[in-house]
Amino acid sequence: MKVTAYAPGRVNLIGDHVDYAGGLVLPMAIDRGTTVVAERVGSRVVVSSDQETERAEIDLVEPVDAAAVRPAWARYVAGVVAVLQPRVGLVGAIRSDLPIGAGLSSSASIEVAVALALGFDGTTSELARACQSAEQLASGVPCGIMDQLASAAGVEGAALLIDCRSLEVTPVTLPDDVEVVVRHSGQVRALAGSAYAERRAQCAAAEAVIGPLRDAVPADLHAIHDPVVRRRARHVVTEIERVRLFAGALRAGDLELAGALMTLSHRSLRDDFEVSTPALEDAVGILVATSGVYGARLTGAGFGGCVVALADPSSLAQGWRLQPSAGASVTVYDP
Ligand code: GLA
Repeated sequence: MKVTAYAPGRVNLIGDHVDYAGGLVLPMAIDRGTTVVAERVGSRVVVSSDQETERAEIDLVEPVDAAAVRPAWARYVAGVVAVLQPRVGLVGAIRSDLPIGAGLSSSASIEVAVALALGFDGTTSELARACQSAEQLASGVPCGIMDQLASAAGVEGAALLIDCRSLEVTPVTLPDDVEVVVRHSGQVRALAGSAYAERRAQCAAAEAVIGPLRDAVPADLHAIHDPVVRRRARHVVTEIERVRLFAGALRAGDLELAGALMTLSHRSLRDDFEVSTPALEDAVGILVATSGVYGARLTGAGFGGCVVALADPSSLAQGWRLQPSAGASVTVYDP
């Protein structure tokens, strides 16, 4: 049985490092992604990639440790196989126009596309959860659900307000008179794994003192004595509120407010959550100093990768102009 599956990457407009605290995020699926063209056959997954020299070869019968698979990109394929445990294999090819390590969720898009190609059958949020588990197995990083859910649930023309506690997805139409500009900092993400896990543990430490950060208000933060844990929690609590305000600003077409909230989000990620780098600071600085840019911030986990800006269509901001796009899809051709 022949199959074509496609899953987009994503860029997060606002709401970083809050998904694993059950917070609100506002990403959009983008017009770049991963396509799998393959045949469901045999008892192995064998796929080539146009961005890699070595193929992924995963045996369905012999269980593998996904995190130890080689070549490294095949770990995401192995993670999906480990979670879905399909009975029929896949032979084919992967094409992607997403830059790797840029913070545009190339790995989530591989996972979602491979899961659909393997015949995943379930709801959009079940697909996202399965692929989140695959990512955790493959990378060893305790990531949240945002990237996989944005890829699975994308809507053309809209960003996605996602409640990471209920997994409810509410499309928020992007105004016509705005562009989403993404610019690479020039720094491939590094050390993100251990630092990410450390940040997540610090949020858990805060929750042990004041309960779910999703429900906390700034006044609750005084009860946290450790100054580092308190700053991490302050980022999460204030970021969730910024996402709420940002969604309202987009709906009202108030791009000045939306941009200001993005810039505040960046400062919070830099000063309270400490996931920025000099290269990200330079990239954000260049964008916010460009006329016609409403605001800019690092996007995703931080420690390198991309920054994102909202800009007027006439602005001279340099970077990729990305469109909010539909989510993942699959077509099965009967022989
Ligand atoms: C990575 C993770 C997401 C999310 C972001 C930060 O992209 O995969 O789950 O935590 O970092 O917002």
